[in-house]
Amino acid sequence: MLKFGVIGYGYWGPNIVRNLRGLEGCQVVGVCDQSPAARKRMQAAHPGIPVYADPAELVRSPDVDVIAVITPVWSHFELAKAALENGKHVFVEKPFTANVAQAEELINLAEQKHLKIMVDHTFLFTGAVRKIKKLLDEGVLGKLYYYDSTRVNLGLFQHDCNVIWDLAPHDLSIMNHLLHKDAEAVVATGQSHLNGHEDIAFITAYYPDSMIAHVNVNWLSPVKVRTTLIGGEKKMLVWNDLEADEKLKIYDKGVDVKNQEGLYNLLVSYRSGDMWAPQIEQVEALRLELSYFADCIRKDEKPFNDGCAGLKVVRMLEAATESLSTRGSLVYL
Ligand SMILES: NC(=O)c1ccc[n+]([C@@H]2O[C@H](COP(=O)([O-])OP(=O)(O)OC[C@H]3O[C@@H](n4cnc5c(N)ncnc54)[C@H](O)[C@@H]3O)[C@@H](O)[C@H]2O)c1
Repeated sequence: MLKFGVIGYGYWGPNIVRNLRGLEGCQVVGVCDQSPAARKRMQAAHPGIPVYADPAELVRSPDVDVIAVITPVWSHFELAKAALENGKHVFVEKPFTANVAQAEELINLAEQKHLKIMVDHTFLFTGAVRKIKKLLDEGVLGKLYYYDSTRVNLGLFQHDCNVIWDLAPHDLSIMNHLLHKDAEAVVATGQSHLNGHEDIAFITAYYPDSMIAHVNVNWLSPVKVRTTLIGGEKKMLVWNDLEADEKLKIYDKGVDVKNQEGLYNLLVSYRSGDMWAPQIEQVEALRLELSYFADCIRKDEKPFNDGCAGLKVVRMLEAATESLSTRGSLVYL
């Protein structure tokens, strides 16, 4: 039986506790939150589970194997470090840490102590992303031209970070997981209007072989949009995560360009073939992710969304922050 201690029972923490409670071979032995209101909510929802105000109660407990850190990003490093120092595996929310140095320190500590870190990049476990990965790995789209994601809605305004650190970790972790290459450089622009943190931002990532990615994140949109376009030489894909059915559509559309000898103009022909919507597995991503983490611990295997995957995202976020501060300079990774 793997015994979990969960720190943070705000907006996301209840989902972690609920999913862990439903997993065979896992047990939640305690939940901690510094807020009395959160502790009250927790007690009402799960009366049998002890609730604490001080994280040390869980982090130092010999009865805990894994600590789940479900608190705001500024607290991830301190809590995860204390957990690792006390011999616990760590499940930590996205974004992994507030900077690259913290991520590197946690990765080294976990390695020294032979402990596992998993960063909660939940989207990687959704049916849609798993299907897209399969299609890309099979070469269905051919050589990729671009990845273009829009993730906008009204709020939820965060008090401790801007819209890039709040929403872009989803896109960056998905891009890193799907694309078989790392970005070379990042450009970001954005603007703050209300609480001193940028509430709208545009990130461009440049890849080798003329592949380009663009991410639009915004807390000031009147409508919620979660749409990603992936353009390839052979096929193009649209992922609308708000669609109940047919989240993914693959278009046999494209452009062929021929440069005939003796002709000054390029010959451009457009291909407009069929569209199909593949079947997507309906599972709760978080449940699958937590179950995978428990398996990794039991089998002593490194999860693919480990500390190094979290570090890659934090490195891109840091580069985007640097670019943002200079209104869009190119920052190499
Ligand atoms: N994976 C996802 O899809 C997803 C979705 C939402 C949030 N998140 C992430 O989850 C984390 C938490 O986000 P949230 O929206 O739940 O925040 P929140 O502010 O609603 O909740 C955080 C809770 O942690 C508690 N807390 C903070 N520091 C603490 C400490 N040192 N000890 C004990 N309790 C402490 C607070 O009292 C609060 O109840 C963030 O890193 C966020 O990015 C991930």
